[in-house]
Parts: sequence; C-alpha cells; structure tokens
Amino acid sequence: MKYKSESASLSQSQSDLVCVFVYANEKVDNVLSEIDAAFSGKLKSFMQTVGSHAAEDGFKGKAGQVLTLATFGNIAARRITLLGLGEKKDFTTAHARKSAAALVRRLPGESFHGDISFFFRQPDAPVKASSKSASSKKQAKITPAKAGKTASLVEDSEIVQAIVEGIHLASYSFKKYKSSRNGEGKKEKIVNSLAFSGFSIAGKVLADACQRGESIAESTNFARRLIAEPPCFMTPSRLADEARSVAKEFGLTIKVFDAKEIEKMAMGSFLGVARGAKEPPKFIVISYDVPKSKKKVAIVGKGITFDSGGLSLKPAQSMEHMKYDMSGAAAVIATMRVVGKFKPNFSVMAVVAATENMPGDNALHPGDVITAMNGKTIEVNNTDAEGRLILADALTYAVKNGADQLIDIATLTGAVVTALGRVAAGIMGSDQNLVDQLIESGAKSGEKLWQLPLYDEYQESLKSDIADLKNAGARGEAGTASAAMFLKEFTSGKPWAHLDIAGPGWLDRDREECNKGGTGFGVRTLCRYLLG
Ligand code: BES
Ligand code: MN
Ligand code: ZN
Repeated sequence: MKYKSESASLSQSQSDLVCVFVYANEKVDNVLSEIDAAFSGKLKSFMQTVGSHAAEDGFKGKAGQVLTLATFGNIAARRITLLGLGEKKDFTTAHARKSAAALVRRLPGESFHGDISFFFRQPDAPVKASSKSASSKKQAKITPAKAGKTASLVEDSEIVQAIVEGIHLASYSFKKYKSSRNGEGKKEKIVNSLAFSGFSIAGKVLADACQRGESIAESTNFARRLIAEPPCFMTPSRLADEARSVAKEFGLTIKVFDAKEIEKMAMGSFLGVARGAKEPPKFIVISYDVPKSKKKVAIVGKGITFDSGGLSLKPAQSMEHMKYDMSGAAAVIATMRVVGKFKPNFSVMAVVAATENMPGDNALHPGDVITAMNGKTIEVNNTDAEGRLILADALTYAVKNGADQLIDIATLTGAVVTALGRVAAGIMGSDQNLVDQLIESGAKSGEKLWQLPLYDEYQESLKSDIADLKNAGARGEAGTASAAMFLKEFTSGKPWAHLDIAGPGWLDRDREECNKGGTGFGVRTLCRYLLG
C-alpha cells in the first residue's frame, strides 16, 4: 500500500474517497469549513447540505460511526465519508484504529477505486491562523508546529500508525477453502493508497509510522491465517514450515528440532503430551541475534495445533474451536516478522513447542509421572492441562539458551474466559516492571491485558502425593493463576510474564478491528513492547 501526506485541500483531493474525522456532537458543516477554508459560494452550500444530511441520518460523531455521502461533482472526490471519533476528551489511538476499521467494513463497493484521504484534527489543535477567533492573540505566540506537538494529547505518528493498522486489520479475510463460485460477482474492495492531512508529521516520520502500522497489522493477519487453517492442515510440521519461511524472508536464524532431538534434550514434559498424537511434534526456535546484546528476550508460544484434551477428553462443544490452541505460537512467529524488519538493538528468541494433544493409544494416562527438562517430576492428573506441560520445557529451553527475560503467550485456561470474557487477556508474572510494561504496550496498541495475582497459596493446589508437582489444580478455583504458578516453576527466577489469551484469542463475531475467528491477539502487544 502507498502512503503520503495529502497536499491538496478537502475539495481538491484527487482521492476516490475523502474521509473526515468528526468528534462527538460537532457540527459537520463547521468541521468541513475548519478543514477547508476554500469552502465558499457554491461549495459552502454543498457543505451545508452535507451537514444537514449528516444530522438527518443521525450522524453524531460517535466512535466508529460511519456515514458516506455522494458528492455529485461538487468536490473532486466522488464520495465523502464522515468518521466518528467519540468525545474529544476521551480520544485515544484506539478510537482512530476502530474508526478506520469501521470505514473498511463499510467501504462503498463497486464505485470505490482504492485511494483514501484522511482529514484529521487533533482534539485540541490550535485554532488555525486564518480563522479570526477571539483566541488568535494567544495562539499567535506559539508556532503551529510547536503548538501541534505540545498541545496534542496523542502523538500524531501514533494516530497515523493506528489508522494504518485499522485499515489493514479490517481488510483481513480468509477464503482459501471457499470454492470460487462463492462470492462471484462481488468485487473485492481493495485499498491502494492512504493520504493524510491535518497531522504535524510528514516525510520520513509519516512513512515510518505507516510502515510500522502496516508491518504489525500484516503480521497479525499472518497469525490469523495460521490460526484459521484447519487442524488437519496446520500440523506441527506445517507450523515449522511457516516459521522457516518467516526466518528466510526476514533474515533470522531458525532451528527446528524433531522428536529424536527433543528426546535428546530430555523434554519429557513436552514429549509426554506429544505421545498421544500420530503427527510428529516440532520444537521451533527462531533467533534474532544482536552481537554483544545487552539482553536476550525470549517470547515463548503454546503451539497445540489441536487440543482434544487427550484421554481427559473434552466434550464436543469445547473441542469445536480447539485449532486456535496454537494462537500463542502464531503470535510469537508473527512477531518475529516485525522484529526481523525493524531490528531492535537487543536479541530476541521465539520458542515454540508444537504438537497435537490427542488420545492415541500411546497417550499419557491420567496418573502418569513424567520428568521435565529441568529435572522436575510431574504427575499428570489431567491430560487436558497440556499447555503448561509443553510450556514448561519451552521455558526451560529458553533459560538454558541464555534468555534473561521470559514472556510466554498461550491459550492456557478456560478459566480466563470466565473471568475476563473475550475482552481482555490475563497477565501474570514474577516481575512487576515487565508486567506493567506489557500492560502499557497493550493499551497503546489496542489490546487489553488485566493482571491477576500470583498468591503463594495457589501453589498448594499443585502439590502431588508422589511427584514434585501435579499439572492440574482444584477445578473451579483460580484456574488461570494456578496454571501460571505451574509455569513459574520453570522460569529459574528469571523476570517472567505470562499472557493467557484464551479469551481474546477467538471471537464469534467481528469486533472493531478484529474479524471473527482467530484474532492474532498478542502480536501488537509484543511488537510494541519489543520495538518501543
Ligand atoms: N486449551 C485449553 C484452554 C482453553 C479453553 C482455551 C477454552 C480456549 C478456550 C487448555 O489446554 C485446557 O484444556 N485447560 C483446562 C485446564 C484444566 C484441565 C485444569 C481448562 O481450562 O479447562
Ligand atoms: Mn487442554
Ligand atoms: Zn490447550
């Protein structure tokens, strides 16, 4: 996609579609004349017509509200779209992302040719020098550029990035398995270019914000495609192939360990889960290495390509969407695309343990005892608590291979869906600073993370009579935190955070910039955290 700053005025813009951002309860004709001072004479009456149509159609500038009107040759663009941003005082990048996504979902089909221009005003942008308001004296002291910077609530580059993300995220679709006759005659709405007006950034700063937004959103869409693939296709081997092509494309190092090598590394916990499946397991490590790096961050993903529960078999309803149990793996592999592209100044390692959880004739029995890579013994009282078993060895591997910060991401518990719904992920960890930074990264990128406590008492429920630990605590009691307490046993005291994305990892209906199905949750948070 192409990006540029819009040099023409609203009425002169050569785009197919001009989009005007409107805050709650603003008068649309005032907004239009604020944006384009040339609105006079014939244009002025057109502008008033747009304003009164907007009012009649109930357009109030609510966040995500979209209204498209034909321009009938009054201005160069064929159509004008009003995009609601909600209350000025509440404005965040999330509103910009959301309204850009709403725009894509409502793009006029046939007549749209692919170029969009956005006209934005900071919620507290200084009054334009041209308009002779009472405050013009005050404004005169500050140069517009400076005023734009000091006065804005949210940085312009952040808003532009969010708009680009919203456009790309909402453009996602997965039609691989639809026979082509389906949807025939329906023209794909393809956006070719975006132009931005009303921002204090241009040139390289604007281009960088757009490239970042595009890369993060396209990587999220990449993760979504991995998740959308049916489990018969997206096996551990295929997941490894996808990781290989990411490494190749973005100049990263990759090592895929097969069952024999996994056994050599003594990953008894991971292998225990893999035993029930015919599909061979894969242990995938993608590395981005900076010589003499000050730190090495490991991002560790749960890669269960299908979770049947194993012998502790899930009921049919709970199994329906269990192809998304590799969403953590998809998120860390996708994040490495962005890491490889934007090259932070420290090393990053993505670690994925990939296997199915199946009840094959060699499957773990409830009651079996296995030995994890770090030597701890685990009584498997429930084979459906398999995520923590594979992550245990993945975390140990990361520690043994020089990670000094651990972030794991996993669709780990149904309990987190009960607690937080599909709105937020649960976050827990041993290092409050790391947890805080991740929550902040999430907030800035439009992903909600809510911290749950790791009280020592939760450890009690993981005590086994015959082994060091058992893998499942008491049913119905702090399931999310006790799973995290299990993982903590494998972090060797390194700063560690755990994201349980079982809730927001899957949606049953489109929501804002996320399409229904696997959402690729976590990619944005991890990228923001790693790139700053
Ligand atoms: N993959 C599931 C967790 C899950 C549940 C993800 C619902 C998405 C939606 C995980 O492997 C699992 O089965 N967890 C069990 C743990 C229990 C047996 C201690 C659960 O949450 O029921
Ligand atoms: Mn399970
Ligand atoms: Zn699972």
